[in-house]
Amino acid sequence: MSTNHLDDEPEFLMTDKNFEYIRTLAYQQTGIVLPERKKHMVYSRLCRRLRVLGHNDFGEYCQTLEHNNDELPNFINALTTNLTSFFRERHHFDFLNDVVMDQWRKQGKKRIRIWSSACSTGEEPYSIAMTLQPMLAQAQLDIKILATDLDTNVLAKAQAGIYPKDNLEHIANDMQKSCINLLGNQFEIKPLIKNHIHFKQLNLLQSWPMKGSFDVIFCRNVMIYFDAETRKKIIARFRQLLSNDGYLIIGHSETLHHISDEFVLIGHTIYRPKTHTTHSLSQFGTEGK
Ligand SMILES: C[S@@+](CC[C@H](N)C(=O)[O-])C[C@H]1O[C@@H](n2cnc3c(N)ncnc32)[C@H](O)[C@@H]1O
Repeated sequence: MSTNHLDDEPEFLMTDKNFEYIRTLAYQQTGIVLPERKKHMVYSRLCRRLRVLGHNDFGEYCQTLEHNNDELPNFINALTTNLTSFFRERHHFDFLNDVVMDQWRKQGKKRIRIWSSACSTGEEPYSIAMTLQPMLAQAQLDIKILATDLDTNVLAKAQAGIYPKDNLEHIANDMQKSCINLLGNQFEIKPLIKNHIHFKQLNLLQSWPMKGSFDVIFCRNVMIYFDAETRKKIIARFRQLLSNDGYLIIGHSETLHHISDEFVLIGHTIYRPKTHTTHSLSQFGTEGK
């Protein structure tokens, strides 16, 4: 790759200066770090925007970003990585079912708040709600799941709650009966599940409107895109919003090691606040032993 061109005949010219502008803006707006090795990915994800806007090169696109705030959401939506699936990292949902829900039942807990803080197209919050399904039908319980993401396109898909039938392979048969309706080649999430989830756009870098405490916070597979400084700030803010006997659940390649000393690892990528008397849950494994 030459310094000015992505390959011999790129559709659009992207200079080093253009890439620098784009990665600085992405970092400021989203916290996402885009190293030089991601230049090809950035180029291919943004090409569509240049075509839609009728631009001839990335210089023109950078000018648009500089002078037209309306393009910013499209820029952000194009750059986010939204990979997800139902019951991804299944051990987290097993833990929710076998340990957390059991604890809540024993405590007689009536008010439950869960936050899926980078929910993408919705599979994560729907998997949480499906796991909680036996509790959702109990009228005396007040259960709410907040599902947020920065990307407005994925949030719209999440809110629609309609997925290709192929995705059913990740959802257990008995859960399918109580949580989804088939619609030809697709399926929809049943109202009982959907009605407990509140979808909202939220940038983890900016201010958060929520005041109340959460019993479980999921922040999975988004911190990998952030630098250590951003991770530290976000985790410290999670601690403030997490109840003392709550749980913080992160992604398989993420860790709080060197990021926060306010949490204790109690299972594979599952943490509790240090103020809580914690115990190791060996059946769920521990990382970095
Ligand atoms: C790879 S997906 C992870 C989805 C889900 N948590 C999972 O583990 O399957 C990462 C999500 O983080 C979102 N994201 C990236 N930067 C963000 C930010 N600053 N604030 C909120 N969400 C962000 C992206 O839009 C994307 O949907």
